[in-house]
Amino acid sequence: MADAPVLTIDGPSGSGKGTVARRVAEILGWRLLDSGALYRILGLAAERAGVSLEDEKGLAELARGLEIGFESRPGEEGVRVSLGGEDVSREIRTESAGDRASRVARWPAVREALLERQRDFAGPPGLVADGRDMGTVVFPGACCKVYLTASAEERARRRHKQLKEKGLNVSIQTLCREIAERDRRDAERSVAPLRPAPDAVVIDSTGVTIDQVVDRVLAVVRERLS
Ligand code: C5P
Repeated sequence: MADAPVLTIDGPSGSGKGTVARRVAEILGWRLLDSGALYRILGLAAERAGVSLEDEKGLAELARGLEIGFESRPGEEGVRVSLGGEDVSREIRTESAGDRASRVARWPAVREALLERQRDFAGPPGLVADGRDMGTVVFPGACCKVYLTASAEERARRRHKQLKEKGLNVSIQTLCREIAERDRRDAERSVAPLRPAPDAVVIDSTGVTIDQVVDRVLAVVRERLS
């Protein structure tokens, strides 16, 4: 692993970690790893290739051969994600893509197949890694670790707002149910379950603005690097 600093930001979906990770990476001028996008892309690739979400070996093989591209464009919110050269940024952000992602993410062989690919993102001047197991499994030696959380209701509300902005209409109750189900699957799986690393700083973002969370995360980085 490279010696450049790594900041891991883990937590459940809707905790705001994606936005926080992007902003912090921008402010620090560090690289960004959106590890959830890898599982989302794999879910999409499996659907297209007709590989069953129950086929651990087939999924792992597919994961090893994935042609994935991440590209940040100045002035654009978010990162463009491509699969085999095709822009799939929108397609991987749907609720069903998230659901498929958490199903492929259950398999140990799949996680193993994506491990080195994730570690390859580390490098100077630093990396912000966003996911579920960044601080526990992928970058256990990271200097700065944050675990971001928020109540399920707040997370459902945020997700609802995001989807509405994209023109998608899903009820808050449905989202709350789906979020709870995905949390349960992520927390109960046998490999890399969702939980804070022992040396992570836990930040609850319920009722706190994104700017305030970003400031707290930056304070963690400053403190750990000083
Ligand atoms: O963060 P995002 O919602 O894009 O992640 C989609 C799914 O991918 C999660 O629900 C989780 O099951 C899985 N995931 C994971 N480990 C990561 C990142 C995401 O298992 N590091």
